Amino acid sequence: MDEFQNFTLAEMDKEHLFHPVTSIADQQRRGPEILADAAGVELRDIHGNSYVDGGAGLWCVNAGYGDTTIAEAGYQALKTLSYTHLFGATANEPAIRLANRIAELFRDHADAGHLSKVFFGTSGSDANDTAFKMVRYYNNLLGRSKKKKFIARQGAYHGLTHAATALTGISAYHNAFDVLDGQVIHVSCPHYYRFGKVGETEDAFCDRLIDEIKDVIVREGADAIAAFIAEPIMGTGGVLIPPKGYFEKLQPLLKENDILFVVDEVITGFGRLGDWFAIGAFGLKPDIVTLAKGMTSAYFPMSATVFSEAVWNVLRDASEAMGPVMHGFTYSGHPVGAAIGLANIDVLDRKGLIGNAAKMGPMLLERLRAAIADHPCVGDVRGRGLMIAVEFVADKRDKRAFAVDAAPHKKVAAAVAAQGLMVRALPFLNVTSISPPLCLTATDVDEIVKRYVAGLDAVTGELQQLV
Ligand SMILES: Cc1ncc(COP(=O)(O)O)c(C=O)c1O
Repeated sequence: MDEFQNFTLAEMDKEHLFHPVTSIADQQRRGPEILADAAGVELRDIHGNSYVDGGAGLWCVNAGYGDTTIAEAGYQALKTLSYTHLFGATANEPAIRLANRIAELFRDHADAGHLSKVFFGTSGSDANDTAFKMVRYYNNLLGRSKKKKFIARQGAYHGLTHAATALTGISAYHNAFDVLDGQVIHVSCPHYYRFGKVGETEDAFCDRLIDEIKDVIVREGADAIAAFIAEPIMGTGGVLIPPKGYFEKLQPLLKENDILFVVDEVITGFGRLGDWFAIGAFGLKPDIVTLAKGMTSAYFPMSATVFSEAVWNVLRDASEAMGPVMHGFTYSGHPVGAAIGLANIDVLDRKGLIGNAAKMGPMLLERLRAAIADHPCVGDVRGRGLMIAVEFVADKRDKRAFAVDAAPHKKVAAAVAAQGLMVRALPFLNVTSISPPLCLTATDVDEIVKRYVAGLDAVTGELQQLV
């Protein structure tokens, strides 16, 4: 490190740290914002400024920061068995127990006892890549060599590894990356507020979207479509809640056409919506579910792809002939991550944080609505549990959007940060999201609303110049 001793952290960052999802020009111009420590819902930067983390990191710190039970579990696991892989049926106790715990949670809290085979990875992206690969593997085992394409939605975010990027339906993530071609079909985004046509009811919007999916299946042939992937509520897209009846109509259509249903619960899993899982809350019966973020509250990078008994049986029956399933990662089922996952689930459970999200979410939504719904540039304030969003429009009456490069939500997020609240400006629509840790209190709710309002007020004049 000696050669760096005369440089500040910010200078060293600019020189050597390649940040994900970051404008290099901005990083070089403005430098990094370096965070130093955190506790509960609060973060502090190296200058001593504190913020309420209205994003829970990237929708992931469900238990809140600095939980000593989780930290202690990690420390003990590091001392006991700092690593083992799971290849060739090697195993470790925490990974076995975590797989069992996840299957139990699905059975007991989501009426999904059929989801019982847990494959571990380290990120939401690799969990979706695992789903992508295993769906193809499954169909090859069944002799359906053509049945390989995925249907995803515009506005979807499924991560940024190669296949996950292709599943993601936000063009900003595709530009110049030569995304995997022809394997994913993106159908319309199920967000009525923005994409409903003038005069179209929510029911008619829903039917139009389902008809579009039917048309895709007919056009491509059911023998070419392997799976449909969906976030129950789309996160990065803008906290987009599907129209009433969407999943109820979608699921039988997929069944009829023998199309696997993959549900991406990377954000929604482990309590964010006020239920353990969205599939339970929405009555979904997927064949595969992906999990990450809240599984360890980001105290360790860990993900899971959970398969149904029926999909698993196809793999099992082909096993003698196929040999090993040649898919997996060095860190699949990491014993430290699994121990942290178990401790995190205990904390969510013992502290009643899922119930707290079910209580604080509606309170936050209601108080935020009361404070800003009449603002001339606020089109929609929506959410479920602690997944909340504000969508900005140039004209409230006809929902006219701002010009593409106006980015009002980025101005709001920056102004809100100056008030000591972190919210995220999202890349698909003019939306800021608010998704704090599940441990927030009613006082935190009021603080979030107060700081958001102060930030919004500070840039209202600027926003009105952009309309
Ligand atoms: C719904 C969803 N799926 C997948 C991912 C990708 O997860 P990761 O960034 O851990 O790869 C994300 C990340 O935000 C997500 O929101």
